[in-house]
Amino acid sequence: MIPIKTPEEIVKMRIACRIAAEVLEKMSNFAKAGLSTQDLDDFGRDLMREVGATSACFGYAGSKCKYPAYSCISLNDELVHGIPSQDAILKDGDVVSIDLSLFYDGFVGDNTRIVRIGEVSSEAENLSRTTEEALIIGIAKAIAGNRIGDISHAVEMHAKENNYGVVKEFVGHGVGKNTHEEPKIPNYGRAPTGPTLKAGMTLAIEPMFTPGNPTVYVCDDGWTVKTRDGLLAAHCEHTILVTNSSPEILTLVKK
Ligand code: MF3
Ligand code: CO
Repeated sequence: MIPIKTPEEIVKMRIACRIAAEVLEKMSNFAKAGLSTQDLDDFGRDLMREVGATSACFGYAGSKCKYPAYSCISLNDELVHGIPSQDAILKDGDVVSIDLSLFYDGFVGDNTRIVRIGEVSSEAENLSRTTEEALIIGIAKAIAGNRIGDISHAVEMHAKENNYGVVKEFVGHGVGKNTHEEPKIPNYGRAPTGPTLKAGMTLAIEPMFTPGNPTVYVCDDGWTVKTRDGLLAAHCEHTILVTNSSPEILTLVKK
């Protein structure tokens, strides 16, 4: 069953997601060469505390152990679920995805941004930009009456057109009272297949592309996911609301 949010729940989702976007934007602006990913996570943890939000990552039960930090910070060849560390020092040319997911007033806002540290290589920039474009292209398909496969297919086509690989092991998801709700939203698939979208669904869409072989593995820490070939990986994410017209991107900072 894919939850359809009531108008009251949608109001709460809008607030949780906006707060998630604000915290993520502040973390992204804070990121710079010389800081550790632990410094970034500490900064995010403090911001969440200040606004009365709690991390949706901390304590999340994985197959091996609970997630030990407040955000996921994945560097270069890390795709997702990078565990912040005192030993991971940001340097110019790094590409870092910050995945910030929080609870506020009983609802989850989930978003991920790709942050470039200083000047990055053209390979890294192209991969990052293409993944960001795919997110927008996928979101545009999230309209009532369309199907999940329409989103998946659009995202996959944008990777293929740019000769990038699509990671298959990790997918987007419904989000609301829980971090992960139905449906799963793969970044590949056929249109028009899968569940039909309805107004009131809230979805986390999260393309994950690589320049080489998209095979990934989970490290011994039980969380960090890396590319098998050691090449870069890119991941970004928004939480959106399906409506009868244009989708509403919920994880935006309102100026
Ligand atoms: N934001 C992550 C997602 O999109 C949440 C991961 S939970 C964690 O699935 F424990 F892995 F951090
Ligand atoms: Co997510």
